[in-house]
This record gives sequence, C-alpha cells and structure tokens, in this order.
Amino acid sequence: MKRIVTGIKPTGDIHIGNYAGAIKPALNFMKDNQLEPFYFIANMHALNSVKDTDLLKKQTLEVAATWIALGLDPQKATFFRQSDIPELFELNWILANLTSKGLMNRAHAYKAMVDQNNRADIDMDTGVNMGLFNYPILMSADILMFNADVVPVGKDQVQHIEIARDLAEQFNHTFGETFKLPNYYIEKEVAVLPGLDGRKMSKSYQNTIPLFCKPKRLQKLIKQIKTDSSLPSERKDPTSSPLFTMYQAFATADETLEMKRRFELGIGWGEVKESLYTVMNRELEKPRVKYEELIAQPAEIEKLLAVGAEKARSYSAKKLKEIKEKVGLL
Ligand code: ADP
Ligand code: TRP
Repeated sequence: MKRIVTGIKPTGDIHIGNYAGAIKPALNFMKDNQLEPFYFIANMHALNSVKDTDLLKKQTLEVAATWIALGLDPQKATFFRQSDIPELFELNWILANLTSKGLMNRAHAYKAMVDQNNRADIDMDTGVNMGLFNYPILMSADILMFNADVVPVGKDQVQHIEIARDLAEQFNHTFGETFKLPNYYIEKEVAVLPGLDGRKMSKSYQNTIPLFCKPKRLQKLIKQIKTDSSLPSERKDPTSSPLFTMYQAFATADETLEMKRRFELGIGWGEVKESLYTVMNRELEKPRVKYEELIAQPAEIEKLLAVGAEKARSYSAKKLKEIKEKVGLL
C-alpha cells in the first residue's frame, strides 16, 4: 500500500485553484484501493497568517466541510486536524536540529519576503516571524511522520517536498533508515490555475473564484476573467488562455479537445465563458448543497475529526516512538 499525504491550510475561502491543484487530485487518488490517504487541515500552518480566534475555528470547519462535501470518505481516508496530533510538533523539533539555517534561507516564502524588504530598503527580516521561517520543517514533519510516498500539491509547494526529502535523507544518514523519501504529485494541466486577473489564483491576490460561491456569483466572477481584445472570428491560442486552463480543469477530455479545436477556429470569449460556467457548475452543484448542509452541523464535523485524530495518532504515536529511540530520547 502506498501512502498519500496532503494538507490544506484554513486561511480563507477555498478557491477553485486549491480545488483543481490539490483537492481534486487527492480525491481522485482515493478511488485507487492500493493507496492509503492521509488528508488533514493544516491549522498550525495557518497560525502564521490567521490571528483571529473565531476566524481560525470557522475556517477550519469550512475546510473540513469542503473535503467531505467533495466526496472524501472518512472511513477510507484518515482525515484529521493537524493540531490534534501532538507527535508532529515533537518531530518538528527533532528535524529542526538537523536543518541547516541556509536551507531555510533559501525556502521561497521566506526568500520572497526578504527580497521584498531588500527592494524597499528596509531591514531584511521585517515582518518575518519564526513560524514563517520554520514553515518547511513543520511541513516535513507532516509528510515524514506518515511515511508519505506521494504528496499531491500545487506547483508552489514543490520546494517544500524537496526539503522534506532532504531532511529525511539527513535523518536516515545520521540515525539509520527511518523515513521514506516522499515524492510530489502535480496535476499537470492545472499546475497553476490562473485567477481573475491572469496571475496565479491565490487568496493573497484577491483574484479568486470561491469554490462554493452561489451560481449567480460564479457567473459574475467568470465574466470578470481577463481576456484580450481579439475578435470572435480570430484564431486563439489555448495554451496562453487562462479561460482554457480553467475549462480544462472541469471539462472531460473530449470536451477539452473540442474546445481546443474551437479556439483554433475562432470563438468569442463570451461563449467560452458560458461553457466554462456550465462545466464548473455541473461539477460543483451537488457538493455545494452538501457543503451548506454540513456547515450547519459543526458538531458532526467535530465528531468526524475526533475519529480521524484517533486514527492518525495510532500511526504517529508508533512512529514517534521509533524516531525517539533512534535519536536516543527513549
Ligand atoms: P493560496 O495561494 O490561495 O494561499 P494555498 O497556499 O493555501 O493557496 O494552497 C493550498 C493548496 O492549493 C496547495 O497545494 C497549493 O499548491 C494549491 N494551489 C493554490 N493555488 C493554486 C492555483 N492557483 N493553482 C493550482 N494549485 C493551487
Ligand atoms: N504548505 C501547504 C500549503 O501551503 C499546506 C501543507 C501543510 C501541506 N503541511 C502539508 C501540504 C503537508 C502537503 C503536505 O498549501
């Protein structure tokens, strides 16, 4: 059995980029009985940006409801909340002591902040807290604790999986074979789903389409997607069109081929947008209703998470014992 591990941070409305890049591939993996999925809500990672008690709780429940509404079967997957697994934080510290500071200096989220500060000619670490700096170490603990073979993520997370591999090798080399080396999995066609403005769809750019927004709003947001001024009759390049990338994430292979052909013949942007709405709404209609039902019953979600935590801890407690013995802590 191969293990598959991924986490989503409860940092805001889940958008279709999160869905197409991370959640949908993870759910597709669940159809394979040879795989053992461990999916979780990365609320400890969210602490870095969410500093509001009620909001963190609310967003955590929303991420849980999203996974379940989209078809995650909690009987089949081990589905839990990161903060319910204290073993992760012990492993985080052990790994921190094998991590060179230089490696963290090069991690992209931190590096991006430093570059931004340098450009603004202010102290390079302005606005950087240790949660951000250590972020890749905790993420490595999440992955290595459950012996992940595969980690489905969006392209922006690849460097973190590579760091987890480095740390696993470092640990194995120092204390003997303990961790599997994880691989990332990227859904190729949607490696980076564009947002309304054509940049990567991201909560930080406020260019998102929330996954479960009401049909009217969905339609309105799709209309706002930036296009060029080419005429309907003009030939269009599907590879450079954000609309096409989004369409591909929701359409069948045949529908995608047909759309590609129509791009090459010339098609009006309005028509592409209508087709996009149709395929998106087709896929999201039922989960949207389920989501609304679930979110109205937070106690039920909590129950599921409690079962998930117990299941996850039956693995992590054993693994941590092995790790501590190797290190000399037990
Ligand atoms: P955001 O950039 O909106 O803050 P997160 O960093 O919380 O999103 O990402 C959660 C998961 O969704 C990650 O695996 C990430 O790679 C994936 N993801 C986020 N945005 C996109 C996107 N635009 N296209 C594809 N995958 C994405
Ligand atoms: N860092 C991931 C993100 O920003 C979330 C995450 C935390 C994660 N731990 C993980 C993803 C472990 C995969 C595996 O989206």
